[in-house]
Amino acid sequence: MSKFEGKVAIVTGGASGIGEATARLFANHGVKLVVIADINDDLGHKVATSIGIKQCSYFHCDVSDEDQVKSMVDYTVQKFGHLDIMFSNAGIINPHQNIVDLDLFAAKRLLATNVFGNLACVKHATRVMIEGGNKGSIVCTGSIAASSGQEKFFDYSISKHAILGLVRATSRELGSHGIRINCVSPGALSTPLARDVLEMDTEMIEKIFSPLTCLTGSVLKTNNIADAVIFLASDESAFVTGQNLVVDGGYLSC
Ligand SMILES: NC(=O)c1ccc[n+]([C@@H]2O[C@H](COP(=O)([O-])OP(=O)(O)OC[C@H]3O[C@@H](n4cnc5c(N)ncnc54)[C@H](O)[C@@H]3O)[C@@H](O)[C@H]2O)c1
Repeated sequence: MSKFEGKVAIVTGGASGIGEATARLFANHGVKLVVIADINDDLGHKVATSIGIKQCSYFHCDVSDEDQVKSMVDYTVQKFGHLDIMFSNAGIINPHQNIVDLDLFAAKRLLATNVFGNLACVKHATRVMIEGGNKGSIVCTGSIAASSGQEKFFDYSISKHAILGLVRATSRELGSHGIRINCVSPGALSTPLARDVLEMDTEMIEKIFSPLTCLTGSVLKTNNIADAVIFLASDESAFVTGQNLVVDGGYLSC
């Protein structure tokens, strides 16, 4: 029997990067269905089609809009019967800013996606998991920016601290319904988000960040994050909740 037999999962930000890698890994591990929720419709449809329509469906959803999150979660339950796993992963980052010339409009947009988007996904996933009476697992994407400051990206850093707070503050209430919530915190890795904000290609990102880890010769890839999400989403972590699983090759600790 596969790890996720009969399970239904949602992956927000599933059209690209970490979300795409995780959606593919869910499918490889035999999930009944994975719903990719994203605002990039072209990419989202392409990824869903390449995974296969029997196992993957695309739904347009801007996570910063609660009505869209509610519709996306309700669509999943109406069409596929239940929701077992929410990977709340969609996120954005703003370019380097100084506090004195901080663009508050851009910061609000970032917080709407990274903080309120996660809040809406956790709220509506919990609602249908309770209604369905199933013991679900929720995983949010944090970042090492929640532990290391990242003063150049401080609105982003604030948002990732908030995700840790969200996971820790809700774990007891969710636990009373048998629902687990955890967070995975990646180190820097090459995805469109990182390439755009750092204005570097994959080779440059890996050349700069890999030597900062403890794992000489290893390079952080999206699949390493996906593996951690699979662990937190599966019964292999059945007694793990309210935790932050840092996947950074020891960057923060060595
Ligand atoms: N790449 C890194 O170095 C890194 C490090 C730590 C944490 N993260 C986090 O990983 C998560 C995934 O990012 P990634 O690196 O895979 O980047 P990515 O750009 O490859 O993927 C992000 C996805 O989120 C989608 N998205 C953006 N805003 C959205 C919205 N409002 N509603 C729905 N979808 C939306 C994008 O269209 C895109 O498909 C983010 O939360 C990011 O903060 C990334």
